[in-house]
Amino acid sequence: MVIRGRLACQSIGDRQTNRSLIIAIHIVYDDQHTSTPPEDHMPALQTAPAAADYKTMELRPMSGAIGAYVYGIDLKDRKNEAMWAELRRAFLEYHVIAVRGQSLSPADQYEVGRFFGEPCFYPFAKGMDGFPEMTRMVKEAEDRVNFGADWHTDTSYLKEPPRATLLYAVETPPKGGDTLYANTRAAYDALSDGMKTMLKGVIGVFSGGLKHKKGGDRTAHHARITHMAVQKADEANQYEARHPVVRTHPDTGSKALYLSSLHTLRFDGMTEHESRPIIEMLNDHCIEPQFTCRVNWEPGQLTVWDNRCTLHNAINDYHGYRREMRRLTVGPEVPR
Ligand SMILES: [Fe+2]
Repeated sequence: MVIRGRLACQSIGDRQTNRSLIIAIHIVYDDQHTSTPPEDHMPALQTAPAAADYKTMELRPMSGAIGAYVYGIDLKDRKNEAMWAELRRAFLEYHVIAVRGQSLSPADQYEVGRFFGEPCFYPFAKGMDGFPEMTRMVKEAEDRVNFGADWHTDTSYLKEPPRATLLYAVETPPKGGDTLYANTRAAYDALSDGMKTMLKGVIGVFSGGLKHKKGGDRTAHHARITHMAVQKADEANQYEARHPVVRTHPDTGSKALYLSSLHTLRFDGMTEHESRPIIEMLNDHCIEPQFTCRVNWEPGQLTVWDNRCTLHNAINDYHGYRREMRRLTVGPEVPR
């Protein structure tokens, strides 16, 4: 079955288009003698469990598929073991948790980060004084380009990408500046059996070069970033890694798509020309509305997300207003 799936995958690349992708899926299905057409294959979403049984915090789910706002806790309360256990549970169940009403110094955020894993260095922006793994993400009122736009999972071009990102809002615009998230576990679950078979064992080649970013690559992108300490654009193409495009979550055992149009150049053993239509299709599938949520920010909000089973996209819709965040990634892990 695996061999058959891979052959179908190769034939897709030869034909280069999504139309041929659909044809290839039908070939797989015909071969399996199934009567279920892939177009009709849409299993029910696995929605997050009810939030009512959390004892130490109030959870308000953001959507049916992903995300919860968290109220009623103090992340500086390091001794509240029940709270931290529930926070970890909420992180695994909802994938994106937005904890409101905090007052965190960089040292506080660093300590919260260490609960989720060892801090990771971000290659393309200088760290903060005393906290070299933490970066300031700033868009001033006069800026027109933001950082973090376009769907992606953080630093997937590293050999050991971070399991979690902690983004803390210092200053937010009066409107706009939301972040979109997509649940790539739910997106994987909703794929047809034929597509799941074809993707089994497929390795993605991830690059930090932003080769396919609208408006230009990493060098062009950094040239338009005015008020952030960006760096190493000239080394971006050297940041390259190979990871399975379907990865298994080490804590939950569930499978999730792991790729993005922004960072996944191609599939290993295939050319970019062959791979891109499939990567684009899977990226578009992941960000269908039923898999997403939208995080609204306010100062003092710490949002923590699971990079192993999500994509995100920072919306650039707040020209004329300042936005300042602190970003920390933690938990380097080899995707498997
Ligand atoms: Fe990001």
